[in-house]
Amino acid sequence: MDKLAVIILAAGKGKRMRSGIVKVLHPLLGRPMLSYPLEVSLEHLQAEKTIVVVGHQAEQIQNAFIDPRITFVQQKEQLGTGHAVLMTKPIIGDFKGTILILCGDIPLITVKTLTEMVQHHQHEGAAITLLTAQRENPTGYGRVIRLSSGKVRKIAEERDATKRERGITEINTGIYCIQAAFLFQALGAVRSDNAQGEYYLPDIVEIALRKKQRVSTFPAPDPVEVMGINTRAELAQAEEILAERVRQHWMAEGVSIQDTSSVYIEPTVSIAQDTVIYPNCYLRGKTTIGEGCRIGPQVEVADSQIGNRVQIKFCTMITESRIADDVIIGPFSHLRSQCEVEKEAKIGNFVEVKKSRIGPGTKANHLAYIGDSEVGVGVNVGAGTITCNYDGLHKHRTIIEDGVFVGSNTALVAPVKVGTGAVIGAGTTITKDVPPYALAVRRTRQKSIKKWVLKQGKKTGRGPQE
Ligand code: UD1
Ligand code: CA
Repeated sequence: MDKLAVIILAAGKGKRMRSGIVKVLHPLLGRPMLSYPLEVSLEHLQAEKTIVVVGHQAEQIQNAFIDPRITFVQQKEQLGTGHAVLMTKPIIGDFKGTILILCGDIPLITVKTLTEMVQHHQHEGAAITLLTAQRENPTGYGRVIRLSSGKVRKIAEERDATKRERGITEINTGIYCIQAAFLFQALGAVRSDNAQGEYYLPDIVEIALRKKQRVSTFPAPDPVEVMGINTRAELAQAEEILAERVRQHWMAEGVSIQDTSSVYIEPTVSIAQDTVIYPNCYLRGKTTIGEGCRIGPQVEVADSQIGNRVQIKFCTMITESRIADDVIIGPFSHLRSQCEVEKEAKIGNFVEVKKSRIGPGTKANHLAYIGDSEVGVGVNVGAGTITCNYDGLHKHRTIIEDGVFVGSNTALVAPVKVGTGAVIGAGTTITKDVPPYALAVRRTRQKSIKKWVLKQGKKTGRGPQE
């Protein structure tokens, strides 16, 4: 391939989104729309230059993509797509290769199609190659007008087209390969004498013809790839198509997914073989899931590393945590952030864990809060155990060493340390460190007053009635 520069047009606001947020920053599968064409350029085509033309909310867009490989160019007034491309002239400079022009709102375009299009363009030695598509309903798009010889004559925008031209179903997708040397020379000749008073980039097709330059077309293999997002409904439709691509990818890699359309997997997630994902799961961010896991139903995992053979059961949420092999979590557990759960540990119903390490084989099966804690090997955390980690001003740590038995309904007032092998009696509030192998218990001694109920019975109506 010759040298390649990519220009992505993203100066428009996207009025039809009806949003305070510029269109290209709306997310699809957790990433802004613009990240899709950017990724193609930066990671796959490895373009020599990647230039984004921004206008509306330029600053927000630039802040969302801090990467030295991207050059942002301002188009202060949106005078049309031709004008937008003209703004990149100082950056393109005397670059000699192929310029690929994309829009910021076409997240479904594939690397394969663009690579083939660039190869086709270079092989044909064309001045311009248009990516075209057939659309049953071409309304809104520029139509590809051909001569009887089949050669492209021009692009007619919807608002400038004649009735006959509007009947044409071959459309301009807004994606072009153009010879750098030809592009800026041609743009200089573009006029704004059209229905919208704009400088239309596709007008360079007619100019090429006049200058006896070759115009070629490359048909998009699947028209869905060139779908432009203009409305929230199209955003939802495109996101669903992307989500299905991700699910198909993981199924092909050996992952089972039940009720596939209910499962949401962001493209940044990776899943190993023989893992089963049950319905209504959300797998987000930089999450990795090992082999043979069972996830769900109804589970959310974000930015977490899950080992092999882990079970994450119904209604569990895990964020920014690391889970080792053979752990069982849920149902109804919440690992809030910065948790490390070591192998074969169990976190059960209504247990919340935050910023804590849970040692191998440790069990916290019911109704507990473990925060800012270090829990050792084989600890039994009884039902209702609470680490009181916050004194209203500061957070404090709780250390529970190996083999400790924490009785039910224990409050551990941090900072506090429970030594190896110690036992804490149920209902105890721990405020002082417990030495290894000690029994710590703090409750008022139980008193049973004999026949109290019977004696009171006459007054209160309690107890056995005659
Ligand atoms: C454009 C094409 C049309 C094609 C369609 C495909 C023109 C004149 N028409 O029409 O032939 O069928 O795309 O989707 O090019 N933009 C700027 N600055 C501007 C104007 C637009 O950066 O001054 C950006 C927009 O943010 C957008 C892209 O260019 O990402 C396309 O602009 P848009 O106004 O949507 O063009 P269409 O009317 O859809
Ligand atoms: Ca458009």
